[in-house]
Amino acid sequence: MAKYPTVQLSSGQHIPVVGLGMSHDGGYSHNALLYALGNCGIRHIDTAKRYGNEELVGKAISESGVKREELWITTKLWPGDYGYEKATQACLNSCERLGLEYLDLYLMHWPDADIPGKSAREVRAETWTALEDLYYKGICRSIGVSNFLIHHLEQLQEDCSVVPHLNQVEYHPFQRPQELVDYCVKKNIVFGGYSPLAKGEALTHPAILKIAKHYGKTPAQICIRWSIQNGIITIPKSTKENRIRENFQVFDFHLQQTDMERISSLHSDRKLIHLTYPLWKG
Ligand SMILES: NC(=O)c1ccc[n+]([C@@H]2O[C@H](COP(=O)([O-])OP(=O)(O)OC[C@H]3O[C@@H](n4cnc5c(N)ncnc54)[C@H](OP(=O)(O)O)[C@@H]3O)[C@@H](O)[C@H]2O)c1
Repeated sequence: MAKYPTVQLSSGQHIPVVGLGMSHDGGYSHNALLYALGNCGIRHIDTAKRYGNEELVGKAISESGVKREELWITTKLWPGDYGYEKATQACLNSCERLGLEYLDLYLMHWPDADIPGKSAREVRAETWTALEDLYYKGICRSIGVSNFLIHHLEQLQEDCSVVPHLNQVEYHPFQRPQELVDYCVKKNIVFGGYSPLAKGEALTHPAILKIAKHYGKTPAQICIRWSIQNGIITIPKSTKENRIRENFQVFDFHLQQTDMERISSLHSDRKLIHLTYPLWKG
């Protein structure tokens, strides 16, 4: 597929280890996305219904002229669309907005769920059954979850058949949930890490700056490389062409073990992303 390395999911599909984040925080740049596809050879795009840009991403894909089979497109199901029927329809709607006949990866965006008369666990299982059926039909070539903790994953495996192919969770130098990573590795669930730059906050930390200077790389490249060397699929976001290019130039150097450990020691369990109840209900 692309010139970037890939990792095989238990679905048999190969996901590029680095992708371009498309969250609505900080806005959307159509030109930057076209540049990523056309000039940097980036083939892995991470979007979501929640980001409100699936239609624009679809337009950029079409304008870029990149062949469908070369792309890896992830999108996500918002909790307001949980439940079997709604989830199925939401997936088809996402495909339509993106102008795609199939998704490479479809994720349940959050474990939280609220349907009157049903427990969150029941709703997650029912929704996951819809994703399993979309997977069996080939509409989703891989299916996964996001922000799931160990107990959510345990329950899903007790209640359903397909073990999620990937779990996408916040992962950067200040947030390294090692127990969850180890659990996912044990269960053959690939770990996807989001906000690899801690939304830019990691880029001014003195330890990161020092390591960046030592390698002659930028702080962003150090953070992204650290994720990759930890075996994490990582999806940095930028709306700037030069930064997108920079963020994907991370395959010509290797962080030594002492530097990996120094970055890992910055973990403070600080989370940047929180889901607040009314936000997802709406
Ligand atoms: N599943 C989930 O619940 C979930 C939650 C959050 C995020 N995500 C996904 O993960 C992606 C990445 O996370 P994120 O967007 O939260 O944060 P991030 O990638 O850690 O950081 C993005 C921020 O860093 C800046 N930046 C990017 N490259 C830079 C560079 N080389 N030098 C300096 N600044 C740079 C960007 O600004 P500019 O745009 O100005 O360059 C932006 O403000 C999202 O876009 C989304 O696709 C998923």
